[in-house]
Amino acid sequence: MCGIIGYIGKKSLDEVLIEGLKNLEYRGYDSSGIALQNFNDVQIIKSSGKIKELEKKLQEINLINSNIGIAHTRWATHGNPNIENAHPHQVGNITLVHNGIIENANELRQKLTKEGVKFKSQTDTEVLCALINFYYKNDISSAIKKALKEVKGSYALAILVKKDESIYAIKKDSPLIVGIDKDGYFIASDISAIIKYTNKYIVLEENELVKLSQNDYIITKNNKIIKKSIQSTEIDFESITKSNYKHYMLKEIMEEEILLEKTFNIYNDKDSLIDISKYEEIHIIGCGSAMYAGMVGKTLLEEKSNIRCYVECASEYRYKKIFYDRKTLVILISQSGETADTIAAMRKAKENKIDTLAIVNVKTSTIARESDYKIFIEAGKEIAVATTKAYLLQITIFSLLAYFSSINKHILKEINLKEEEKNILSHLKNILEQRKKYYEIAKKIFQEEDIYFIGRGIDYSLCLEGSLKLKEISYIHSEAYQAGELKHGTIALINKNTPVIAIISDQNIADKTLSNIEEVKSRGANVIIISTKKISNYENNIVVPKISDFFQPILIIPILQLIAYEVANLRNCDIDKPKNLAKSVTVE
Ligand code: G6P
Repeated sequence: MCGIIGYIGKKSLDEVLIEGLKNLEYRGYDSSGIALQNFNDVQIIKSSGKIKELEKKLQEINLINSNIGIAHTRWATHGNPNIENAHPHQVGNITLVHNGIIENANELRQKLTKEGVKFKSQTDTEVLCALINFYYKNDISSAIKKALKEVKGSYALAILVKKDESIYAIKKDSPLIVGIDKDGYFIASDISAIIKYTNKYIVLEENELVKLSQNDYIITKNNKIIKKSIQSTEIDFESITKSNYKHYMLKEIMEEEILLEKTFNIYNDKDSLIDISKYEEIHIIGCGSAMYAGMVGKTLLEEKSNIRCYVECASEYRYKKIFYDRKTLVILISQSGETADTIAAMRKAKENKIDTLAIVNVKTSTIARESDYKIFIEAGKEIAVATTKAYLLQITIFSLLAYFSSINKHILKEINLKEEEKNILSHLKNILEQRKKYYEIAKKIFQEEDIYFIGRGIDYSLCLEGSLKLKEISYIHSEAYQAGELKHGTIALINKNTPVIAIISDQNIADKTLSNIEEVKSRGANVIIISTKKISNYENNIVVPKISDFFQPILIIPILQLIAYEVANLRNCDIDKPKNLAKSVTVE
């Protein structure tokens, strides 16, 4: 959600900033801007739309000679996505870019307006900029501190001050890192912004203030200089390119086989994962696809391991009455580890002295750092806004947790896991190779306006993810229903040829779902079935090999992802950057 890059050093500044923005674009892309500073001069160039619009503009303008700059790509919170509201914002001596939300911006705006400040934009960021400028006399550190004391909300800030050849940066509840290489220093909201230039970075913690200058950097907290360790990332620049794929999303789906193998190799016995079977109750919390992965986890943990589970989206959990009256574990599931609501849910559990376990992809993220236990999924960098490979690995972790828990609880005798995994990997390979089949299905449905998904039990959870994937990248209205529930109202919307995608992997309730399929078929629906057994009399039936119940979702989800992809591709959608969405939602 919004991206920040700043640079001070010997490299070509506009190149570094634009390259950084392009690699951050997946975090938000409704407008962008840069500010270049040359002692007294600050040149600001902004554009609405994608980064390529800003890039075009930069080519037409004479840029000042500068080696200090900050840049931003925006996902609108306060104010429309237009040029006025794009960052950087400038008030008096201060120019800044901001990720996050200032919750008391209206109050502060009124106060500053009374002091004579005239605002040009509708943003909370300009208010914060004006507040820092208001307190700025000659000491920027003290102005930043005074201003931030009055602020409620979240922020990651990169700040330029006139006549001061440095970049200042500070954060609260929104990530920020300092990048280091031999030619200069970077500030960035995400490692992908700087990975082309360096893999060395420092993670800033809450309210640590960094000052980047030509030859050094200083980090202070409460006016005291602090030393922090420099980390290096394993992510390389190549891994964040599209290779020969048309879209990142397709590349990321195709990586699933190799990543699954890696996951199986890492978590290869019960000691490689935390033993969750000792808990009486598990709360699984996440947002979007992460929550849907949690729903798959809930079914597996309840049905297979006899552990009581409760799943809730983080934005509800954080404000709801929660009964912590049993020995409870809260599992936070998040690809980025930075989703604001999921962080808040984690902190709520911790305040209640409840154990927390993070299932995350980004190892340096807030959730990874603050939770008691962690399981890292090894998805690498996921660039497409709609998650695919990370979701698949999240459900794999739940499969393994459920499998090992049921062994710990003596519910299940160990199976030959290595053999089963080999089997799964070879089936997955086959499934991924059958793109043509999904394309043929997509051709039959891509012009429809409504598409429904139905399934029971674990299949319903998969339907939710399939439906979300489809709507977010193709903009076709889609809903997922428990197969038995559709007839209680929504069946009224089934017309001739309305696509209904049904999933039947659980043979125990297959007949029940089949009856529901008949109900929609008799109303004219165009039924597409994904099942583990061939269903006669249905032309559109994708049959998936039957494997152990623990792992069955792994073979179904890539099919739903690829159908969504092919549909969106046929509709010429901007698949990697769907409208209105952001990859990492760092605001409430
Ligand atoms: C956004 C993304 C989704 C993702 C959700 C949670 O909405 O577009 O793909 O599932 O955030 O993100 P997280 O990083 O916490 O998994």
